[in-house]
Amino acid sequence: MDVELDPGDCLLLVGPSGSGKSTFGLALAGLIPREIPGVVAGSLTVDDRETAAFEPAELAAAVGLVFQDPAVQLVMDRVEDDVAFGLENRGWPRRRMQARVPEVLAAVGLAGFERRHARELSGGEQQRLALAGVLAAEPGILVLDEPTANLDPAGATAFLERLADIRARRAATIVLVEHRVEAAWPLADLVLALGPDGTPIAAGTPDAVLREAGPRMAAAGIWLPEAAGPPAVVAGPSAPEPIGRQILEARDLRFGYDRLAPVLRDVDFVAAEGERIALVGPNGGGKSTLGRLLVGLLRPQRGIVRLDGQDPARLPPASLARLGGYVFQRPEEQFLAQRVIDEVTLGLRSDELDEAARLMDRLGLPLGTFEERSPYRLSGGEQRRLSLACALVRRPSVLILDEPTFGQDRRGYEALLAILRDMVAEGACLIAATHDPRFVRDVAGRIVTLDDGWLVGDEPAPGARAPEMPA
Ligand SMILES: Nc1ncnc2c1ncn2[C@@H]1O[C@H](COP(=O)(O)OP(=O)(O)OP(=O)(O)O)[C@@H](O)[C@H]1O
Ligand SMILES: [Mg+2]
Repeated sequence: MDVELDPGDCLLLVGPSGSGKSTFGLALAGLIPREIPGVVAGSLTVDDRETAAFEPAELAAAVGLVFQDPAVQLVMDRVEDDVAFGLENRGWPRRRMQARVPEVLAAVGLAGFERRHARELSGGEQQRLALAGVLAAEPGILVLDEPTANLDPAGATAFLERLADIRARRAATIVLVEHRVEAAWPLADLVLALGPDGTPIAAGTPDAVLREAGPRMAAAGIWLPEAAGPPAVVAGPSAPEPIGRQILEARDLRFGYDRLAPVLRDVDFVAAEGERIALVGPNGGGKSTLGRLLVGLLRPQRGIVRLDGQDPARLPPASLARLGGYVFQRPEEQFLAQRVIDEVTLGLRSDELDEAARLMDRLGLPLGTFEERSPYRLSGGEQRRLSLACALVRRPSVLILDEPTFGQDRRGYEALLAILRDMVAEGACLIAATHDPRFVRDVAGRIVTLDDGWLVGDEPAPGARAPEMPA
């Protein structure tokens, strides 16, 4: 199938998890096959020239790529240097660079972050920085791989408005990979839909693609705009599980990575078995930090954390994994093994191996296909599901999931919801830090909001009845 973009067009690239969307972006930026070996057939041209005929620096100047995992593209220690790095490579004079860096940081909501360490930013802050680095030089082609997955709702809206403006001015040609098609669909001049094996299902204008291939896309698990897609799954705020005994307690928590800069301030929070809690709030609000404290990866400066009455920081790892399961915002940070099979069975009892295989099947990572693969060489969405499987397989009493749904197609999303529903029905307490409004709507019975380290909201989800206490 051929796809051709005129200057200033926006191509929306959709497809199930693992279908090759990111691979397409990497090829367009010339990283495949130069940096990442691979076999390429067919023709890929920029300005009527084969990408292979470009000097790497020349192509890098023409194509600004934002990776799916923003952390992998941060090269410099300090935020301002990271943005300047790309401009320097493009030969910008120092004066112009010095003016441009703060301007573009402010545009992505990182004013004042100039001297911060890039590695010590929250997930969403890192995504904002990666976007700033690419927007700074105003390249002619923008390749954006799930650019809003880690942004808070206000940040996502602001970024999509910026894209709409770039498109209206035809200031750059845009290739956008998105599972959140609701907001992306109206931006697209063209849609390319890949099937599960990377073969295109359809390409054309958004309307024509929906008309001609909508049902096939839905069958492949691709998200469609809500009006066109199959009815959304409802996992159930309307039917709250009865909640059980208190299983998690955080009292008067205070924490800062640096003693002088508090990140959590006097947070009080308890949760019970059977609860489904969405942890929401602006980027950098403290959600991931709270998650790490709740499973003992960090220790509070003041206050206490108790998981089933015990201090998680003092529990041996094996008991902790069954009490509090934690899924990192960046899956790569949690992987320990070199093979998928070793990762998901690490520390399991022999009678739990069948359960691991079943769970991997349900999550679309059948061991028959995936066991020998490296966790580090999976697609972003596959890594997310593997990291979820690793925590869920131990059936922990408390499940703490940090951005569980990024990279997920409709099938992966529904599979995850079904598994979570089962586990909560069996008494697990679910706490998910998330920017995914669909997940909040489908899952949450209670919404807890953190903003700048303060717990500013703790309420039943709209539509959820107050939890029923057991008789
Ligand atoms: N390793 C670290 N060292 C120093 N500061 C950090 C570190 N990780 C996060 N921070 C800072 O702590 C604050 C809270 O970050 P945290 O990751 O908890 O936010 P978050 O709510 O999870 O954000 P996001 O929605 O972007 O994932 C932010 O100001 C962030 O910059
Ligand atoms: Mg976070």
